[in-house]
Amino acid sequence: MSTLDSVEKYVTYRGLPPLAGLTSMARAVQCKWSVEQSTERLKRMHYVLKRLHETFTARITSEPIYELKTAFSHHAYLCAEYTTAIRKRVGEMRVPPLGLDQVPNDSLELLMDEIIASPTTEELVAGVYEVAVPSILEAASRLEQDAHPLADAPTVRLAKLMQFEFKEVAVFGSQAVACLVNSEQRLAMQTWLDLLRLCLSAAGAVDGALEVNCATAPAPHHSLKPYQYQGEPKRDERFHDSYNAGVNPEAFLYDERFSARDKTLMMYYKRIREIDVPEMMASILHDLRDDEPWEFHMEMSRQLWDEARHAMMGEVGFVSLGMDWSTIPINFTWSRNLNLQLDARERHGVLFFIEQGLMPRTGKRYEWEVGCESGDGLSGMFQDFDWADEVLHAQIGRRWYVPRYKSLQEALVYGDRCWTKVVSQWLGYRDQGLTDHSNWWPRLYREACIRWNVLPDPLALSFNTSYEDSRADLKKID
Ligand SMILES: [Fe+2]
Ligand SMILES: [Fe+2]
Repeated sequence: MSTLDSVEKYVTYRGLPPLAGLTSMARAVQCKWSVEQSTERLKRMHYVLKRLHETFTARITSEPIYELKTAFSHHAYLCAEYTTAIRKRVGEMRVPPLGLDQVPNDSLELLMDEIIASPTTEELVAGVYEVAVPSILEAASRLEQDAHPLADAPTVRLAKLMQFEFKEVAVFGSQAVACLVNSEQRLAMQTWLDLLRLCLSAAGAVDGALEVNCATAPAPHHSLKPYQYQGEPKRDERFHDSYNAGVNPEAFLYDERFSARDKTLMMYYKRIREIDVPEMMASILHDLRDDEPWEFHMEMSRQLWDEARHAMMGEVGFVSLGMDWSTIPINFTWSRNLNLQLDARERHGVLFFIEQGLMPRTGKRYEWEVGCESGDGLSGMFQDFDWADEVLHAQIGRRWYVPRYKSLQEALVYGDRCWTKVVSQWLGYRDQGLTDHSNWWPRLYREACIRWNVLPDPLALSFNTSYEDSRADLKKID
């Protein structure tokens, strides 16, 4: 009896679906797959995802467009999740040494070197979302089809999950390209896009499953000049007066004379200002790329993405009030000063010190209580999750920052010292004419009172405390 006949004759108990619902018996009897093929493809996908994670992260700081900063934060996180999942799966397939840090193919390396080095936003989004992301999706789809659904079920599951999430990345990406790249720009970058596709042909696609089809070997273009991380944060044209540190929101928030409702407005500002955290964390991840294990990058990428979400919560808060956040100066001097004045370990110290300071009674719990008390349900809900996220971040810090020091106390002292070392340049920025540190609060507050249909509280209206001589933790600057 042929295999086909036996498959046809095979019956399960009362006709139940066979094989735990994984696949049909006809597919399961096919045996064109091996551990070696599976790990080979996964390793190549791992390489491209890891490089894509590196690219998204590294470009957050210098990318001016806010919607791209937040999307890059999200997509970097997703790349990190699947990089981690693939590492785990490869580790399960008896192939030590895993070789996950090796470059699997020179053309794939060139592809990713070219994309990270793309000199403009338009080329970056086209390279990432028109070439790299679709090529990963194709590889995941092929893996789902080709891997044996029973013998290699964990890989098939991974390939399915990856497609589920990366389809959304691709949809965002094609919309972003349509919004940002005009026909003239497309024409100008066509040769370069062809080069990227040539890299894929020369590699036999991301997974190496296609025939190598390449008459001429691809040669570097943008990557002739190796990519250099830019630590100076850039913002799009909706952001203005970004050096303005004329309002100290923490001084308002922790002042008992002000009402919870008025404080929600300041909290929405504090949240949207958090876009400076991904701008700063990106520099830590970039600088420590080869100095820390992958798990460090995974966890820090989750944290970075949370901070971008916090910024978007602030954005949503302003929209809910019918207010235009672009009229407020959203300060960037925290990320700018840290990126330009401290090294990566020092920046991590400051981050940990600040986040640890958010944990006691007066920190995140207090913000949540204020949100709940205010009657603004959205603020209460956002602060609820913001608090949960910050507890996670403090734990991430305890895993990846504190163990470098003798004790928690020493780790905190170091972070505080690093923060103290940062020159705020409050006067310097003013003297250079970059800002006059004008107090933007009364105008914003007045507008919110109109939305709330209430009269302004004269005391809140007269709030006029800047960062001139104090930090966000209200510690005095000498
Ligand atoms: Fe945050
Ligand atoms: Fe945080």
